[in-house]
Amino acid sequence: MILLDGKRTSEAIQQEIAAEVDAIRENGGKVPHLAAVLVGNDGGSVTYVTNKVLACERVGFGSSLIRYNDDVTEDELLAKIQELNESEEVDGFIVQLPLPRHINAQKVLEAIDPRKDVDGFHPINVGRMVVNLPSYLPATPYGILQLLERYNIETAGKHCVVIGRSNIVGTPMSILMAKGGYPGNATVTLCHRNTIDLGYHTRQADIIIVAVGQPGLLTADMVKEGAVVIDVGTTRVPDASRKSGYRLRGDVDFGNVAPKCSFITPVPGGVGPLTIAMLLKNTLKAAKREVY
Ligand code: GUN
Repeated sequence: MILLDGKRTSEAIQQEIAAEVDAIRENGGKVPHLAAVLVGNDGGSVTYVTNKVLACERVGFGSSLIRYNDDVTEDELLAKIQELNESEEVDGFIVQLPLPRHINAQKVLEAIDPRKDVDGFHPINVGRMVVNLPSYLPATPYGILQLLERYNIETAGKHCVVIGRSNIVGTPMSILMAKGGYPGNATVTLCHRNTIDLGYHTRQADIIIVAVGQPGLLTADMVKEGAVVIDVGTTRVPDASRKSGYRLRGDVDFGNVAPKCSFITPVPGGVGPLTIAMLLKNTLKAAKREVY
C-alpha cells in the first residue's frame, strides 16, 4: 500500500509556482494577485481562507482578504465583486462558500467575471470544462488529477466510482475522469444519496473517489483488493485531547481500508493540501492569460 502524500505533492507544486513567480519578477512582469472574499466567522471557512492567503505569500503572489460580517447585504457583495472584476491589480478571486442563507450564492458566483473565476465555479467555466475548452478546473478535482498523474496511476479503461455529486467535487470529478487524456479515459459510475446498495458499485471499482462528508462511510467490505482510494472528506469531529478541540475525519474507515489498497490518501495530508496548490496554479494561469 502506497500513501498518496498530498502535503509533499502540494509543496512540490507550490515550489514550481514560486519558481515561475521569480522568473516573472526578474523579467519585470506583474506578480499574480489573488483576492479572497470571506463572509462571517465559520471556523472551517476562516481556516481555509487564511491558509489560501498564507500560501499566496509563500509563493510570492500578492493577496487581499476582504471580510464581511454575516449581515452583509447581497448588493454590497455584488458591488465588491464588480470592483474586483474591474481591478487591474487582481488577476483572480474567490468568494468562500457557504454564504449566509439570505444571500443568493448562485447569483454571486455568476457575477464573477469568468476570466477571474479561479475557483472554476462560474457556469461558463463549468460548461467550457464539459466541452473541452480551456477553463479553470475546480481546485479539488484538479488536485486529485495531479495526485493520480504524479504517482503514475493508470486510469484508462479503469472503473472509477465517484461518491457524492456536489458541484465543487463529485460532479466535476466524474466528468473529468471520463474525459479523454491522462488522467481520464475511465469508465465512471457516479453514486449519491439515492444510490441503492453503494457497496455493490464500490466493490467493482478500481478507483474510488469519495466526497460526501460522512466520516467512515467507506468500509473495508466495500473495497476490492488493490483499489485506489481517494478520500475528500474533512469532517471536524470533537477531540478533547487536541488543543483545537477537534480533529479531521475522512469519509474512509482508513485503518481497515488502507491494507486492501494499492494507493490511498490520508486525512489530513491527502487531498486537502492540493486544493490550495491548484487554486494558486489557476491564479498563475489567470495572470499569464493562459485560459482566456
Ligand atoms: N468551500 C469549500 N471549498 C471551497 C472552495 O474550493 N472554494 C470556495 N470558494 N469555497 C469553498
